[in-house]
Amino acid sequence: MKNLAVFVSGSGSNLQAIIDAVDRGFIKAKLALVVSDNEKAYALERARKKNIDTFYFNPKKYKNRPAYESLITAELSKRKIDFIALAGFMRILSSEFTAKYKNRIINIHPALLPSFPGQRALKDALDYGVKYAGVTVHFVDEGVDSGPVIMQDIEPVRNEDTQESLLDRIHKIEHRLYPEAIRLLVEGRLVVEGRKVKIE
Ligand code: GAR
Repeated sequence: MKNLAVFVSGSGSNLQAIIDAVDRGFIKAKLALVVSDNEKAYALERARKKNIDTFYFNPKKYKNRPAYESLITAELSKRKIDFIALAGFMRILSSEFTAKYKNRIINIHPALLPSFPGQRALKDALDYGVKYAGVTVHFVDEGVDSGPVIMQDIEPVRNEDTQESLLDRIHKIEHRLYPEAIRLLVEGRLVVEGRKVKIE
């Protein structure tokens, strides 16, 4: 059985979708660790309810990124983590970290990359006036939201949409797409060839 870690910063609705998918045997992995940079993240509560190990670090307490990343790496090694899913983790990982887990870290992003990378993607897309919003699941490389694309899906923007109403529909897509991508990842069915990801 492969070991999975999920990194979070916020409410953790995607973490919940992953927990549920593991519970029903859709994702064939052990959810062995949840890592958070935010002590108040509701995601931590969701993990604790399921007796999943959690690791919280306060980034402000360390002098630089390598200092806290080495602690994270130790926690991951202790549990023999094979794969990492970032689920609303609002922090950039160093190139050393992403290299160590090359093709083993994925992220979910609430926009159709390469449009609207960064932390306010949904607002940026709405403000821009796009007619189609969407979701991207991608491998994490040393850049910001720049790794090879695994899956995407689109959601039409309606005239009356607010950030909240659109986010609601984007979340529904995310909660379907992310467990599917993680399932393929842990089953070794994602083959990366340059920028292309083939599903086998
Ligand atoms: C998700 O919508 C995810 O796509 C986004 O944060 C949200 C977390 O929600 N991630 C990013 O914006 C990454 N740049 P959740 O905590 O309810 O899963």
